[in-house]
Amino acid sequence: MSQPLRWEDDALWVLDQRRLPAEEAWLRCDSPADVAAAIRTLAVRGAPAIGLAAAYGMALASDRAAAAELLRSARPTAVNLAWAVGRSLQADDPLALAERLHAEQREADRKLSEMGAELLPEGARALTHCNAGALATGGLGTAGGVLLAAWEHGRLAHVWVDETRPLLQGARLTAWELGRAGIPHRVITDSSAGGLMARGDVDVVVVGADRIAANGDVANKVGTYPLAVLAERHGIPFHVAAPVSTLDPATPSGGEIPIEERDPSEVASGSPALNLAFDVTPAELVASIVTEAGVLRPPYAESIAAAAR
Ligand code: MRU
Repeated sequence: MSQPLRWEDDALWVLDQRRLPAEEAWLRCDSPADVAAAIRTLAVRGAPAIGLAAAYGMALASDRAAAAELLRSARPTAVNLAWAVGRSLQADDPLALAERLHAEQREADRKLSEMGAELLPEGARALTHCNAGALATGGLGTAGGVLLAAWEHGRLAHVWVDETRPLLQGARLTAWELGRAGIPHRVITDSSAGGLMARGDVDVVVVGADRIAANGDVANKVGTYPLAVLAERHGIPFHVAAPVSTLDPATPSGGEIPIEERDPSEVASGSPALNLAFDVTPAELVASIVTEAGVLRPPYAESIAAAAR
């Protein structure tokens, strides 16, 4: 699996995901400011991976309080970022902590991928959105890990990959990962999903998450909510895969999740534009939340509280 980051030579090295799949270039980060910039500009992205990058960024800090502030504010939606920085502030050795969180993420991905694979029907034609694979976590991936495990167990026939406007994490990153794993896939425009579902070509939807509120509302890459609505319309199960560190019991519901607004120039050149990076899928549209602590089912207020404990 391609990994998004590594620690070497007293620095954090980040695989520059903005340049994939054309080029595999590594960025050296020597300070928390370098790491915050890599997170802000999406050189490293995906909720668990930005949490890990921030944890390593804390290991580069001379002033840990200032570094925490800088790293936490790099992106607002993924709770893994604030979670990892908070863990680091409590640690005596920030580098050892970052390495531990990295190992825990690998283990969480492995466990949840196996459990998630069981949810897919035999011969599944799955649809996914954005990138929730190894590049997004530092392990096997969450939704991507589920697809990989399902493929290894012979349960997966094919993956429809939403291209994921406007930055094409699906077309550039997920398709690249699936290709390297030898998993049959085709990229589709985001707006093709409804037509494919209506034709009976989609059996299951699996996506990742950036933050899951106490009631089970899920923030993920913009375009996830319309997919969930379409899945309900067509009677297709909609599963979310995420580590426990993405659960946010302190945020009561999706309405309180901060949604990142990015530069309008990513969407339109010259015209006014609104560039929302995430949306919120209400819990009632989510069939299950697959975590390393088990497969959570409604009522989510209870299952999430138990998993977060
Ligand atoms: O803006 P991005 O590319 O960081 O958005 C990533 C997503 O929305 C992923 O689905 C999410 O972070 C889960 S990654 C395991």
